[in-house]
Amino acid sequence: MRTEVEQDPSALDLPIAFPRPGEGYGLGGCPFRDEQLGAWVVSAYADVDRVVRDGETFSSKDVLGPDRRETFGRLMAQIREDPRLTQATTYMKGLGDGDGHRRMRSFVNKAFTPARVKGYEPVIKALCDELTDAVLDRVGVEFVSEFAVPLTVRVIAHALGLPPEDHPSFKRWSDGFEGMTTLDPTPQQVDAFLTAAVEFTPYMTPLIELRRREPSGDVISAVTTENDLGERLELDEILKLLSGLMLAGNETTTGALAGTMMYLVRSPSLQAQLRADPTLIPALVEEGLRLTTPAGALFRTATTDTVLGGARIASGEHVFIRFGAANRDDERFEQPLCPMLDRSDKRHLTFGRGPHVCPGAPLARAVLRIAFETLLERAAAITLSDRNDAIVPTGGPMTVRVGRLYLDVIA
Ligand code: HEM
Repeated sequence: MRTEVEQDPSALDLPIAFPRPGEGYGLGGCPFRDEQLGAWVVSAYADVDRVVRDGETFSSKDVLGPDRRETFGRLMAQIREDPRLTQATTYMKGLGDGDGHRRMRSFVNKAFTPARVKGYEPVIKALCDELTDAVLDRVGVEFVSEFAVPLTVRVIAHALGLPPEDHPSFKRWSDGFEGMTTLDPTPQQVDAFLTAAVEFTPYMTPLIELRRREPSGDVISAVTTENDLGERLELDEILKLLSGLMLAGNETTTGALAGTMMYLVRSPSLQAQLRADPTLIPALVEEGLRLTTPAGALFRTATTDTVLGGARIASGEHVFIRFGAANRDDERFEQPLCPMLDRSDKRHLTFGRGPHVCPGAPLARAVLRIAFETLLERAAAITLSDRNDAIVPTGGPMTVRVGRLYLDVIA
């Protein structure tokens, strides 16, 4: 089977392609209206690129979708009865638009400067070594739960400045928040979210107060101290920002690690190339990011009548921007379904672009690079386990990723 994959590299795309973000929408093509979704579906690279760059015409007030207000509307009575939940609604709103957004970004950007990310590298390396020790010389390693999840959670919790004993709670909260990024959360997902929101606020508040008084080199210190203009964020703004970082960073980085590993084990020649020349690992990371696109799609809302890719979009209408489809657009990328280490055009849209471009991208890239450097250096062979369910996709149209991945790791 692996030989067949080698003969037809585009077949590598198949396991994660189901459920493909917006299954049935296809790749490329003009924007079209999906009444059930309540949005224009935007798939071509050039169109997605235009939307994310133009934050004036395409607002980020409802990035998780038009139904979000309704979801929270249903919760409002519950929220009014329990004041501990008040903060919960603000947690799922993103960083907004315009001057408010620019203000929030001035603090987030401070937290992920190249120097700060460099400072996290020794911890990332130590964690990669520890997690590699635990999987070496074993068959049937479940890579997502045994490597990708613990690495991501511990790196982000460390970067934020949380003590190691609280990292498991951090993961539980992140899962609780993540459940609300599906288009139609179940009552259980809503409950898990509210529990996480209730626990998150009183846990973070004293830590924020402490870092205000005694800043250190972590993200909480960066967002609690002054920006370049001498401004400070209010407590509720900091809580919103930290919940955003937790939500935006965890599942995505885990998905990129697992998805990239999937390509690696399904293509022995790719693995051999990287073993022969480890300086190609950053190129693997970029191809892994392009092909996995963990934040597969998000929404924007038109602020004015506009024309996009030939479609007339009215003010107030929503657009569903499919980063995953844009990254496979053959108008932009040659042989888009194949991982190619010598690809000259590496400008994928996995981290978005424009005013909302992902501030955590340097951290995510460092995690991916160090993880694959460590694994490839310390394991002589990494292969897909010989079981029917070796690759299991998970997630919905907005966040599809590899949910389980079973490997044999030979020292
Ligand atoms: C492979 C990993 C990651 C992927 C694929 C990813 C993807 C994205 C994308 C596509 C956006 C743009 C959203 C938009 O245009 O509305 C975004 C924004 C964001 N990301 Fe990431 N991200 C990743 C890792 C991280 C990490 C590690 C952090 C922080 C710890 C982070 C924090 C954020 C925040 C706070 C935003 C909002 C920025 C804004 O609205 O201005 N992300 N991310």
